[in-house]
Order: sequence, then C-alpha cells, then structure tokens
Amino acid sequence: MKLSADTHPLVSGQTSDAPLIRALRGDRPETTPVWFMRQAGRSLPEYRALRSEHRMLDACVNPELAAEITLQPVRRHGVDAAVFFSDIVVPMMLAGVNVDLVAGRGPVFAEPVRTAADVARCRAEFTPERLRAALGPIREAVSLTVAELGATPLIGFAGAPFTLAAYLVEGGPSREHLRARALMHSDPDTWRELLEWAADLSAVFLEAQVEAGASAVQLFDSWAGSLSVNDYRAHVAPASERALSLVRGIGYRHPEMHGYADAPLSVPVIHFAVGSGHLLEELAAIDPNAIGVDWRTPLDEASARLGHRFPLQGNLDPAFLSAPEPVLAAHLNEVLSRGEAAPAHILNLGHGVPPETDPTVLTRIVELAHAY
Ligand code: CP3
Repeated sequence: MKLSADTHPLVSGQTSDAPLIRALRGDRPETTPVWFMRQAGRSLPEYRALRSEHRMLDACVNPELAAEITLQPVRRHGVDAAVFFSDIVVPMMLAGVNVDLVAGRGPVFAEPVRTAADVARCRAEFTPERLRAALGPIREAVSLTVAELGATPLIGFAGAPFTLAAYLVEGGPSREHLRARALMHSDPDTWRELLEWAADLSAVFLEAQVEAGASAVQLFDSWAGSLSVNDYRAHVAPASERALSLVRGIGYRHPEMHGYADAPLSVPVIHFAVGSGHLLEELAAIDPNAIGVDWRTPLDEASARLGHRFPLQGNLDPAFLSAPEPVLAAHLNEVLSRGEAAPAHILNLGHGVPPETDPTVLTRIVELAHAY
C-alpha cells in the first residue's frame, strides 16, 4: 500500500505514541527510546552480505534493497526507530551531480564547485524540480519500509547545507574545509546561493521521505563543528533554517477541513552536528524539536546551557563500544543519568556506529537502556 499524506503514520496513530515520537515532543515515555546513527551499515554481517553485490549508491536507489537494509538493525537490535538507508549525497546524485562514494574515503565529486560560475551552473542544471522527478525509488523504499515497521517510526534524514557544500567545494572529504570557508568569506553572495541551493535539495529529499511515511527527520551537519559561532550564525544557520522550514510546512488534508487548508503534519525534527559544543545555542536558535549532542559535551551541561528547553539526543562515546561490558555499562548509566536533566532524552551514540563494532554490543545497549 502506498501511503499518502492523509494515511501518514503520525496521523493514523501508527507511530504517534511511539516512545521516540513522545520524547521528541518533550515527553518522558516509560522507557528511554534508543537508536544508533549508522545502525544500518557495515557493522552488520547481513548488511555486508547484501551490499557485496551492489555499489553503495545503486543500493540507495533500489527500493527493495534500501528497505531491507533499513529494517535489518530494527529486527536485530530492537531499536526504537529505523533510520532510512541512504546517504547525504543521494539528493545531489538524483539531481544529476556526478558523485561517487569511495570506500574508506567518502563522497568524491568529479567536478568541484568553486567559483561563481560553477555555482550558477549547479543552480541552473541540478534543480530541485529535477530532483523531485527522480525521487520515485526513494518514496517507494520508504513506503515499503514503513509498511513493515508497524508501530516503529522511520527517521528520514538529509545532509545539512554546510556539510553538503563543504564536500562539493572541496571535491571530497577534507579536514578543515579551508576551500569552503575561504569561499564563504571571499564571495559571500556566491556562498549564500550555493547554500540555498543545497538547502532546497535537502528539503525536497526530506519532503519525499515524510510524504511517503517517515515520522521524524534528522538533519546531519557533520562538519559544522569546524565553524566559529559568528560564521555559523551569519553564513550557515539561515540555510539550515530554510531546509527545515519547508519540512515544517508539510501538511495533510484533514477530513474536517473540507479542503480549505491543510492541517500541519508537525513532523518532529532532530538537528545533529559533530563537534558542535560551542554552537549549541546557535542550533537551538534554529528551533528543532530535539538537538543531537556529540560525546564531547555532557548532556546535563548541554541541557543547562539551553535552559532545559530541548529534548536531547546522544551521546555515548563510540570508543566505549569496544570496552569490556562493565566499563561500557558504567558509561551508559552515566549518559542516561545526565540525560535526566533534559526535558526528554533519546539515547544514541555521539556519532555513527564504527564499522568494526561488534553488533551484539549494540543489542546489549538497547536491552540495558530499556531496563534502566
Ligand atoms: O545512519 C544510518 O544507518 C543510515 C544511513 C546513512 C549512511 N550515511 C549510510 C552509509 C546515513 C544517515 C549517512 C549519513 C552520512 N553520509 C553522513 C552524515 C553522518 C555522519 O556520519 O557524519 C556523512 C558525512 C556521509 C558521507 C559518507 N558516506 C561517508 C563519510 C561515508 C564513509 C566512507 C567510508 O567507506 O568510510 C559514506 C558511505 C556510507 N554511507 C556507508 C553507509 C552504510 C558505507 C558504505 C559501505 O558499505 O561501504
């Protein structure tokens, strides 16, 4: 069955009382919801078996495969949410940009975007309309996933405009994103146009996932931590806000509104940025429903800085995943205990699951957290 806006899981009641959704709305369910960034991926032998016959980006646009990989960690670990198997570069690829995911490296672009002319060409050629027309396999993958998930919510995601732009300007992964930050300062108008374009692609990608049945979304700003507070505020936050405002505007046809207007779907939004302890107040100003905190800032400290106004997500240090169980369990208890300072807490790692993680450790974390 294909889901449409009026049979959306948040509206039909399928996921609206799920622990994750309650926590994102600021409530404290009986058990702390748990999911892991990068739970769908290389730590799972069943993922490696499926992926061995497909290129990463081919797998992302194969609806059956993407749905199956999304469901694997939910079946195995009993996590409280699925996160859609895809990648932050998929919307750019579907809009026509020449990009590949190189194993052990990350996204690599055949033609880096560095000048005003490059940006103008991107905006003219790789349009949001072109992306929208190519999103069929993504919608189908989400519909298949949501039909199997039942009461477990699916989290859709997109890369934040800065992280996408950082890859695109550099042409691939980089440490300090010097070229991207140089463009930001030497040609702020071109930079703004680049980020607005990236924001629109992210927004259209999120919109498709939500319309097909995702019950929450997360914006990943993996590289925002390299920015100063002032640069983030002036040159990056407006683009992230632009992406999220489109998602907030998604409505559904309410049966009692007789077609005069759409009722807001109010999909909860999580914002996550790595190494962003210094940016917490700026992230709060974007006003997401929840803020992901990496492992460097204790949750009680983060919550206090935010005036205890935001549900927090995080923040196990991935380094503890390979520690002896008593050491890991003590760290988990500390994170859960500090998380009590926030209005609500969603347990996660402070960044993604490392590929070499023993998957039985993740299952154990879910059990321990649910028993806490
Ligand atoms: O979280 C999930 O389980 C959902 C799927 C997901 C992937 N990438 C699958 C993936 C998500 C949410 C992402 C987001 C993503 N992709 C981010 C933001 C989050 C973060 O970690 O900071 C970034 C920066 C990327 C870009 C990217 N894609 C990198 C750096 C890599 C790793 C390259 C490598 O081989 O080390 C990828 C590839 C990728 N994306 C894999 C997966 C499962 C591995 C592909 C494989 O099987 O080899």
